[in-house]
Amino acid sequence: MIDGKATALRLRLQVGAEVSRLVAEHNLQPGLAVVLVGEDPASELYVRNKGRQTVEAGMLSREHKLAATVTEEQLLMLVGQLNDDPMVHGILVQLPLPEHIDEQRVLRTINPAKDVDGFHPVNVGGLATGDPAALAPCTPVGCLLMLIEQFDGDLSGKNAVIIGRSNIVGKPMAQLLLKESSTVTIAHSRTRDLPGICRGADIVVAAVGRPEMVRSDWIKPGAVVIDVGINRIQREGEEKAKLVGDVAFDEVVKVAGAITPVPGGVGPMTIACLLRNTVVAACRQVGVVCELD
Ligand code: GUN
Repeated sequence: MIDGKATALRLRLQVGAEVSRLVAEHNLQPGLAVVLVGEDPASELYVRNKGRQTVEAGMLSREHKLAATVTEEQLLMLVGQLNDDPMVHGILVQLPLPEHIDEQRVLRTINPAKDVDGFHPVNVGGLATGDPAALAPCTPVGCLLMLIEQFDGDLSGKNAVIIGRSNIVGKPMAQLLLKESSTVTIAHSRTRDLPGICRGADIVVAAVGRPEMVRSDWIKPGAVVIDVGINRIQREGEEKAKLVGDVAFDEVVKVAGAITPVPGGVGPMTIACLLRNTVVAACRQVGVVCELD
C-alpha cells in the first residue's frame, strides 16, 4: 500500500521549512488565494483543507467565497484584483464552476505566473513543450512523485496506461510520464478492450470517476496502481455513504505490486503539491532561488 498521507506530510514539512527560510532570509511569505463559487459540499471540504494546510505551512491563506449566482464579469474582476495583489502569489479557482460561467475564460484570465493549478493554456502548452517555467497541475504531479518513489527514480521504458482524458488529470499525467520516458497510453470511454490494454501496463493511473471499475484481472502482477477516483457510493444494507476509488481496492491489492488507497492516497498529495507550487511561484515572482524548484 502506498501511504499518500505520510508522503504528503513529508512534502508539507519540506514546504514549511522552505517557507520559514524565505520569510527569514527574504521577508517573503508566499500567499495563496482560493476562490470558491457556490456551495458544493465536496468543494467546500477541499477548500477548508487547503486553507488549513496553507496556514500550517506558514503561508498566507485567503478564501473568497462567492454565491452561485455571481456573474462571470464579477468573477473575472476578482481574478483581476488577485492578479494585481503582490501579497497573492498563487490563485486557485475551484472547479467546477456554475453552468453560466465560461470556465476556460476564467482560467485564461489568471496570470500564468500565479496559476498554481497549471490550468492556464500557457502552462498547459509549457508542460507539453518542456518549458521549465511552466506550473504543472497538482494531482498528476502528486501521482508522479509517488510513482517515482515506487520505481526508485526511474520510469523510463515503463508501460503506463492512464484511464481518463481530463484536462485536470489524464492529459497532464500523460505529459509528465512522457517526460520521464515512459511509454504512455491514454484510455477513455471509447477505448476497445480496456482490460487487455491494462494487462500490459507496469503503471495504471485510474482517473475516470467510475466506482471500482478497475478489477484484479486487469492488472499485471506487480504493477503499480494509482487511484485518482473519489466516488461517494451508498451500498445496500449500509447506513453511511462510503468513499471508493476507480479501482476495486480489495481485490486489486492482492495482485498489484503497490496501490494507493482511497481516501489517503492521491488526495493528500494533491494539496501538498499545491503548497509547493505556491512557494515555487512566489520565488519566481520576486526573483529568489527556491530550494523546492
Ligand atoms: N476540482 C477538482 N480538482 C481540482 C483541482 O485540482 N483544482 C481545482 N481548481 N479545482 C478542482
